[in-house]
Amino acid sequence: MIPPEVFTFASPVHLARAAAETVTETLRTAVAERGRASFVLTGGSTPKALYQRLATHYHDALDWQRVHIFWGDERYVPPDDDDSNTRFAHETLLDDLPIPDTQIYPIPTSDTPEADARAYEQMLRDYFGDGPPAFDLVLLGMGGDGHIASLFPERDALNETERWVVATDAPPTSPVRERISLTFPILNAARTVLFLVSGESKADAVHSVFRDPDRSPPAERVGAQERLLWFVDEAAYGDSG
Ligand code: 6PG
Repeated sequence: MIPPEVFTFASPVHLARAAAETVTETLRTAVAERGRASFVLTGGSTPKALYQRLATHYHDALDWQRVHIFWGDERYVPPDDDDSNTRFAHETLLDDLPIPDTQIYPIPTSDTPEADARAYEQMLRDYFGDGPPAFDLVLLGMGGDGHIASLFPERDALNETERWVVATDAPPTSPVRERISLTFPILNAARTVLFLVSGESKADAVHSVFRDPDRSPPAERVGAQERLLWFVDEAAYGDSG
């Protein structure tokens, strides 16, 4: 697995500005090399500033009509629910970009978690076809417990080695417990993974990833094929230096 590249930023605004540049450059390179780009979005609140910046300052920065949009996980709620990652991404990013609807692949939440997980995996397999199942760019946030996507500590989903998408659950403290999540086999096959981590509440989780060999949070098990990038603001980086 390639080593992580960690970049620290003075504030969430500085982090979002740098992330917008990296996202745009990564997608632009994918389009130039392969004619299309596959971009996996994360949920949570951290990416909001990035999404809004992409939708405004970077609206004309690349050929968005060649970009295909996926999600790393979804809360098992209707797509118009306040807790839906699909709704969040449309409101902060997608509704303002010229990406064809046929190139936006929301995780379905209308049948059962298990059936919809299998349906999404088939959607991914159809997209990749005979080519390598390698997303060009995967965005990830990280929870205070070190979870990524909806891969939470001590869940069986962490040990999945074959399936790309599974139904799983979040802790009781989560607003939505039923989840669908991509798994390490497909996440770690990505060309570039970009973590966005901000705020003092994440400092312990960041420390557990980079400085505590006795702890191995889910985030520590994320890899990438070309670039494993961590964009962390100083509040989250804390004493991990
Ligand atoms: C979700 C995300 C989740 C998120 C972390 C961090 O569905 O909520 O996929 O993994 O990235 O929980 O969330 P914040 O950015 O809100 O701290």
